[in-house]
Amino acid sequence: MGADRVPSGIPGLDELIGKGFPKQTVTLISGGPGSGKTIFALQMLITGAERYNEPGIYATMTETPEELRKDAASFGWNLEELEKKGEILFLDVRPSRFLELRSYERAETFFSWLWNNIRKGANEIGAKRIVIDSLNVLSTQFQDEYQARQAITSLVEALKKLPDCISFLLFEQIAMERTMEEFLTSGVIILHYVPIKNGMMRAIQVLKMRRTAHSENFHPFEIGPKGIKINPKETVVFF
Ligand SMILES: Nc1ncnc2c1ncn2[C@@H]1O[C@H](COP(=O)(O)OP(=O)(O)OP(=O)(O)O)[C@@H](O)[C@H]1O
Ligand SMILES: [Mg+2]
Repeated sequence: MGADRVPSGIPGLDELIGKGFPKQTVTLISGGPGSGKTIFALQMLITGAERYNEPGIYATMTETPEELRKDAASFGWNLEELEKKGEILFLDVRPSRFLELRSYERAETFFSWLWNNIRKGANEIGAKRIVIDSLNVLSTQFQDEYQARQAITSLVEALKKLPDCISFLLFEQIAMERTMEEFLTSGVIILHYVPIKNGMMRAIQVLKMRRTAHSENFHPFEIGPKGIKINPKETVVFF
């Protein structure tokens, strides 16, 4: 394994992305509702902490940390131990919580509050993996698309500066059209969840990964009792 590559911890994924994620990059994990973004992220953080000694942060703007613990427990993943050891840290950065906590004298914006939380948390545990869920909620905190884009760009730049760290922005997207968020990150992974003749099918696509000769196919994956498992040798045809 190249020294600049970080194994993902998702079975089958590293074969698609040149043995792992390049360090100090930010990857968009995109997909519709129930496509597996949260599970994908949790699994990467847990295996990162358990197997590769890489502490991780999950900054959540959607589910509460308690709900995420329950999601993980449904796969038998016990986060409590990892949290106690400071190897996994949940940051509850939901906008509703920001409003609750904000004292009226302080003119802090949601974005600076979010970044301060992430920066402090990353320092505290020496984070090597950071997940932000989701970019869509973050975007709603700005007045227009220009401001959102500026903020996302500076977030991506700041995350890239964290030493030896890999970061992931979860993005709720259903349409097949390309969006501006996909241009701002180093990599884009799409989790497809699409109807087929007799039900739904899951497939993963690496749309881009800078500095990487990655797979250009759709590969089937399953969410089973142990989490996500990709079959890198098989491909599926959608269109
Ligand atoms: N324990 C489990 N065993 C098998 N499959 C599961 C299990 N838990 C969840 N799933 C599957 O994963 C889906 C949820 O995945 P996940 O929460 O990661 O989606 P998501 O992309 O984050 O969705 P959203 O955008 O709504 O947050 C469920 O709808 C179900 O199909
Ligand atoms: Mg989710």
